[in-house]
Amino acid sequence: MSASSSLETVSTDVLIIGAGGAGLRTSIELATRGVDCLVLGKRAHGDAHTIWAAGGINASLGSLDPEDRWDIHAADTLDEGHFVNDPTAVEMLCRRAPDRIRELDRWGMDFDRTDDGKINQRYFGAQSFRRTCFVGDRTGQALMDTLVRKAMELDVPYRENLYITDLMTEDGRAAGAVGFDMETGRPVAFDAKAVVIAAGGHTSIYRRSSSRPDENTGDAQALALDAGVPLRDMEFVQFHPTGKVRPEEEAGHLVTEAVRGEGGRLYNAAGERFMERYSPAQMELDARDVVARANEQEIREGRGTERDAVLLDISHRDDEYIRERLPRMVEEFAEHGVDITSEPMEVAPTAHYAMGGIEVDFETGKTQIDGLYAVGECTAGVHGANRLGGNSLIETVVFGEVAGTHIAETLGDRPSVALSETAVQERIAAQETLAAASGQHAPGDLMNRLRHLMWDHAGILRDEDGLLEGLRQLQQLRADADDLQVKADRTSRRYERAQNLRFMLTTAETILRGALERTESRGAHARTDHPDEDPAWRQNIRCIPAGEGNMKIAVQAAGTPSRRVQQAVDEDHELDYHHLE
Ligand code: FUM
Repeated sequence: MSASSSLETVSTDVLIIGAGGAGLRTSIELATRGVDCLVLGKRAHGDAHTIWAAGGINASLGSLDPEDRWDIHAADTLDEGHFVNDPTAVEMLCRRAPDRIRELDRWGMDFDRTDDGKINQRYFGAQSFRRTCFVGDRTGQALMDTLVRKAMELDVPYRENLYITDLMTEDGRAAGAVGFDMETGRPVAFDAKAVVIAAGGHTSIYRRSSSRPDENTGDAQALALDAGVPLRDMEFVQFHPTGKVRPEEEAGHLVTEAVRGEGGRLYNAAGERFMERYSPAQMELDARDVVARANEQEIREGRGTERDAVLLDISHRDDEYIRERLPRMVEEFAEHGVDITSEPMEVAPTAHYAMGGIEVDFETGKTQIDGLYAVGECTAGVHGANRLGGNSLIETVVFGEVAGTHIAETLGDRPSVALSETAVQERIAAQETLAAASGQHAPGDLMNRLRHLMWDHAGILRDEDGLLEGLRQLQQLRADADDLQVKADRTSRRYERAQNLRFMLTTAETILRGALERTESRGAHARTDHPDEDPAWRQNIRCIPAGEGNMKIAVQAAGTPSRRVQQAVDEDHELDYHHLE
């Protein structure tokens, strides 16, 4: 029997692609409101990238700093995003964050508490007040545990090991998706009245990243673009200042910002606390892009360690305090012989987060395609040119609730759209062709080439020559990807990589082209040939599908904050770093 004749078909009202915080929170809202939905994940239930988020989740609860307000949270978010964020999204995020945190608390998330029982909050970079709620340094894991438990209570159907290769539309409306079961290799077609993309980011296309190697491969962004939905802000890629440098297989994995939030200090190999030169007021807790570039500069200029790293040291704090606040860091470093209560960690910048992604209307979660929604890291707009640490986890639950509510309220009016059998068969034939490909190039080799290309040409520091060279090399990679050697069935890692490569190439092109277009430096996008921020560039770069795999670039003026948020911006709040000293 050929694989296509064993096609499995599944019907649901709402198909959710992605099973991290955003997908699960959407499903919880739907299930609570009695809507039939199905959540798909590439891995086992509960094993989503959200578990890797460590240091915390933001909301202006004012537990320790009662002067904090949602509008100051919004002002900090815009400031960090260099005012190219979507102001509506920012306002919604910050207004709704406290309710979502209280809800998580009711659902049993085990937040750290102050002595008088309030949800505790720590400092995080570039935030005016202690606003980051936390569960030690395992906040993402605790969030996922809470959401999985809640989804199970509500009997939300979940399908593991499911890879989506294509979104399906009919007459301009979302109709479902096609993919394959990674355990059996069987192709699967899902028809649905609404589809939610919640499949995360793309930073695994960089040589050093905080992602697991076969995740965050830009699936969401490429699926949306292929289906005809514009992307925006793709040039904005966040490099976290502190990734591990060893052991080799963990290089790039996160050393949480909570280390600096709890007082961690950065030193170069000569023992100099170099942030005094780069940011004397905010020091190690300046914006991520500032600290990442400082670390990078120290390393490039030869002041790093032998392993091309700088040193992050929290050992001046009490052992007990470190063990209580940073248990995962203590444990992970101890496994490799480093006792962080008495010695520093070696760290270097790592690709961490995609600010760019799918264009959505944040008030509903809708994309430009009727019935197609997007939530979480795969969307663009909340974070602008750079994201505040702790804003990603809160984004998943705020906008998951928004999209779930909107879908539940409108689904009744939405007729079912039948999947075209021919279109499904075409997609499955493409899966088979890829599995049988017997060319020259191994998918893993091309992925590695792409990761080096992106690191070297669209990394922390960029310039026109490098970006053009990156695009040239990408053309070559695309040609080589047309000559893949797969010869493996759909249950193999090799086949998964061949599929990932397709998404990674598309996503890489959007980043390179956006970065070339933006002839200024803003937030995480640093051009050495255009080192200053240019007020004329307070615009968003859109990447618009132009048919047959082509895309065109367009620009659009960024939105204006509300009066209330602008007032908070004008009040000019700033973190008083020296509380930490
Ligand atoms: O460093 C961290 O714990 C990361 C948090 C985040 O990216 O929000």
